[in-house]
Amino acid sequence: MAEHNLDNIDLNEYPYINRGLEGIVGFSTTKSSIDGQKGELIYAGYNIDTLAENATFEEVCFLLWNDRLPNQKELDELKSKLTQKRELPQPVLDYISSTNKEAEPMAVLRTATSMLADFQSRNTGDKNKDNQSDAITLAAQMPTIVAAFARARQGKEIVSPLKDGSTAFNFLYMLNGEKPGSEAEKTMDLCLILHAEHGMNASTFTSRAICSTESDMFSSITGAIGALKGPLHGGANTAVMNMLLELDKDPDTADPVEFTKKKLASKEKIMGFGHRVYKTFDPRARLLRGMSKSLSEETGHTTLYEWSEAILKTMKEEKDIDPNVDFFSATVYYSIGIEPDLFTCIFAMSRVSGWTAHYLEQADNNRLVRPRALYIGEKNLEWTPVEKR
Ligand code: SDX
Repeated sequence: MAEHNLDNIDLNEYPYINRGLEGIVGFSTTKSSIDGQKGELIYAGYNIDTLAENATFEEVCFLLWNDRLPNQKELDELKSKLTQKRELPQPVLDYISSTNKEAEPMAVLRTATSMLADFQSRNTGDKNKDNQSDAITLAAQMPTIVAAFARARQGKEIVSPLKDGSTAFNFLYMLNGEKPGSEAEKTMDLCLILHAEHGMNASTFTSRAICSTESDMFSSITGAIGALKGPLHGGANTAVMNMLLELDKDPDTADPVEFTKKKLASKEKIMGFGHRVYKTFDPRARLLRGMSKSLSEETGHTTLYEWSEAILKTMKEEKDIDPNVDFFSATVYYSIGIEPDLFTCIFAMSRVSGWTAHYLEQADNNRLVRPRALYIGEKNLEWTPVEKR
């Protein structure tokens, strides 16, 4: 397909066309605020640095769903609901164990999440209550899907969730078959917080557009997973790790500066850099950079971290472009033993809190999402019968 050339298009019908809806505000929200110039991110009133310092992922889930932090009773109640719901319906487990072991983890997560809809009891008659319950179900079960497939594809026994413990703790336990140490749990919990919510990104826009037709939350989140899977969005973290592992094939001769310059010269994008909104350092990348440094030193991956810093410096010098959330999250996940093709699934099992929060907000204050498109084709052509074409 040729690139659309709008140079000679008479735009008087539409005074402007913002490809990719760049800069277009189509929603109001209390879920997050992003200041792309200052590099500031706020979740429902709280700066990401404050949450990184003090919160747990469960508190962030409650905050996004209710626009306030929980008191102890509410937090305990949410934790117990998440614990009760972590187990998967047997048919979903059967799918995970029997599907193609070579399947992409994000494709399995998308399919299994969609299947969850078949096993929800819908009897309260109170839509908002059902939606709130679905949000907790999704936040509880998506980590179980990811861990279950990660093990099933290696021919390992699927590990059931525990009857206590945080989302981060249970995910690492179900993934590795052993209880994580407090450091690993803290790292995973912080990664879940940092990826939870980020305004009107492509996958959240998708989830809200689906919600706006009054479709169900499982359809909305299935669509969002599909959007996040792309390498221009959540799929970038896996691509960053594959780029670093490419360099690691020959560590003695690896030259991250030349590697970067060569890619830029051939007009290739360097994954983990650039952002539609941030025109400075992504505040999440700043926090993940520190985590990557300390974890790579603890786990003997300092070379990967050093190469990351060299790529960062080159991107700044050559293109004045800063890293986004996906750049350092790659080496953080790698340092705690997560396989690269699972990185985007971890992004998804965190972002489901933001997606479902936006679904609840859209459902509360709905208007069908229906932008326009500028038609640039021919009009009213004469019909030519097939024998004459
Ligand atoms: C996420 O939206 C969100 O909030 C998303 C997210 C979230 O939390 O939900 O933050 C998560 O998706 C982060 C982004 C992950 N994607 C990547 O890391 C992929 C690499 N990045 C690029 O593809 C790009 O930066 C985007 C897609 C993220 C943003 O692209 P835009 O806003 O459409 O910008 P553009 O492609 O028009 O680029 C503008 C210029 C171009 O140069 P020129 O052609 O004008 O000379 O910047 C260049 C681009 O070539 N550029 C890059 C680059 N990103 C932009 N050049 C090299 N490498 C890059 N990564």
